[in-house]
Amino acid sequence: MRIPSTRPWLSEAELQAVMAALRAGQVTGNGEISHRVQQALQEMTGARHVLLTPSCTAALEMAMMTLEIGPGDEVILPSFTFVSTANCVVLRGARPVFVEIQPDTLNLDPLDLEHHITSRTRAVIPVHYAGVACDMDAILEISRRHGLAVVEDAAQGVDAAYKGRPLGTLGDIGCYSFHGTKNITCGEGGAFLTSNAELAARAEIIHEKGTNRAAFLRGQVDKYTWVSAGSSYVLSDLLAALLEVQLARRAAIKARRKALWEAYHSGLTPLAREGVVTLPVVPSYAEPNYHLFYFRVTDQGRRDALLDALRDEGVGATFHYIPLHSSPFGRKTLGCEQMLPITEQVSRTLVRLPLYPELSLAEAERIVARVQAFFGV
Ligand SMILES: Cc1ncc(COP(=O)(O)O)c(C=O)c1O
Repeated sequence: MRIPSTRPWLSEAELQAVMAALRAGQVTGNGEISHRVQQALQEMTGARHVLLTPSCTAALEMAMMTLEIGPGDEVILPSFTFVSTANCVVLRGARPVFVEIQPDTLNLDPLDLEHHITSRTRAVIPVHYAGVACDMDAILEISRRHGLAVVEDAAQGVDAAYKGRPLGTLGDIGCYSFHGTKNITCGEGGAFLTSNAELAARAEIIHEKGTNRAAFLRGQVDKYTWVSAGSSYVLSDLLAALLEVQLARRAAIKARRKALWEAYHSGLTPLAREGVVTLPVVPSYAEPNYHLFYFRVTDQGRRDALLDALRDEGVGATFHYIPLHSSPFGRKTLGCEQMLPITEQVSRTLVRLPLYPELSLAEAERIVARVQAFFGV
């Protein structure tokens, strides 16, 4: 077997769309194609304002700038996440405060969130891990009570929902990723979502290098100029053209992922019944997008041996994350000394299996058989 952990599903339609954009010379950002895609995302999610960005990392940075997070502020987030969730805080000179995850969904634990709120806390960043929603009612209730902004890291949550509402639209700001590893991709890309007019007005300036170019493009000013701090957070129309096709194909993308996710889940259920693996949990409030399939084993020795066994057969099985509080930057620079036992145990015992639309069901079944053989079943 030669199976990567992930691969974008690109068709002739994406190729044609990029060629057409190229032929038309639509290569810079915030052009006609980007505006169409922003509109499509608004219709898909119900968010009133959407800005395309070069990455979710950029959207998270924009979120912190838009909320005017700065030195002396604290922002609460899980330690079990990708580095960008924390970097956006650190880059503002603020302090990331890492909290525990729930052992079933691996999403931010609302009770631990509440324990870590201080007079300096300004915002919380829930991460919808694996495209499964966080417990948003609890997180929003605590955040509102303490006057905190909520920025959803929905990098993995595009086309997934919480109680019927699209992820990325429940908090004050939502951040999407269209990276090549994500369900809907343009290689490198992201989006910033908000329904708050005041935040949107600030964000569109930050998005365009601190200028009022967006107002100029709408014909509201006759010359654009520098009006605040900002950066280069615009996506090229060339990539927006690719993204437009991917968004149109999202139902087919999700259907294939769902079939594979369910094949893994049912194939590994006998091992779960024996207690050798723990399968992912999808709470009734979550409609997932089947972004990742992961499970947990009992200890790190077994996890590492299983990854080796799968890789020996050419299966791109992986694990993540090194908890941010225990990473070199977390320990040496941020001085994180706390213990997050659930996060640490999850990081030591998690296995991710390959999941992408062009993986066949037969390949998924062979991978399940290999996992079963490892456990002697
Ligand atoms: C939870 C999370 N946040 C942020 C990011 C960053 O996304 P991007 O690569 O689009 O910057 C990722 C990407 O893997 C992610 O998984």
